[in-house]
Amino acid sequence: MILNPSFGLAEALAEALDARDGYTAGHSLRVAEYAEAIAREIDVPLAETETIRLAAWLHDVGKIGIPDAVLLKPGPLTAEEFGLIKLHPQIGRRILERAHGFESILDAVELHHENYNGTGYPYGLAGEVIPLAARVIRVADAFDAMTTHRSYRPAFSAETAADVILAGSGADYDPKCAWALLRILRRHGNRAPSPGAAFGGLLPAGTPALQLTA
Ligand SMILES: [Fe+2]
Repeated sequence: MILNPSFGLAEALAEALDARDGYTAGHSLRVAEYAEAIAREIDVPLAETETIRLAAWLHDVGKIGIPDAVLLKPGPLTAEEFGLIKLHPQIGRRILERAHGFESILDAVELHHENYNGTGYPYGLAGEVIPLAARVIRVADAFDAMTTHRSYRPAFSAETAADVILAGSGADYDPKCAWALLRILRRHGNRAPSPGAAFGGLLPAGTPALQLTA
């Protein structure tokens, strides 16, 4: 349970996003689980770990502001459509700025697509200028995206996703966060544990943590 006075509002926002984009329903919860596990692995203090978890849960809330024709498009996006998608971190920040209680996660939500080597968006920040929460979420988000079946490709196995993240360590991903995920997976035989096991038990019963069907 996320102990935050805005838990009910956070839940409502996450539900609203899942209602818009059912295909990624569950993504937010899984990213929260993985982000928390990574934060624990690198010995982030408990209060900051809770903040990272909340930020991870709401990281894509700005997608509420992306038109259906783009958000739900099954095929590849045009450059213009991708430009719209790339607005979602800043839209997310603006949504959360309207409510009280989310101040501590605004930067992480806005910066979760920044890459460690400065090639990400929206600002092209690099290295430790990017807040730790955003660097943790970057890895957790990528791992869940890769291990989830999409209309244009099957899910990667956890092992393959780990290899891709390792290859991107120092480029897309903060090496400290990438290696933390790899250590977690290694302890579980390169497979993420089922919900409620080592990832903290946030997921409701029956929610798959991974679809290992590559
Ligand atoms: Fe995102």
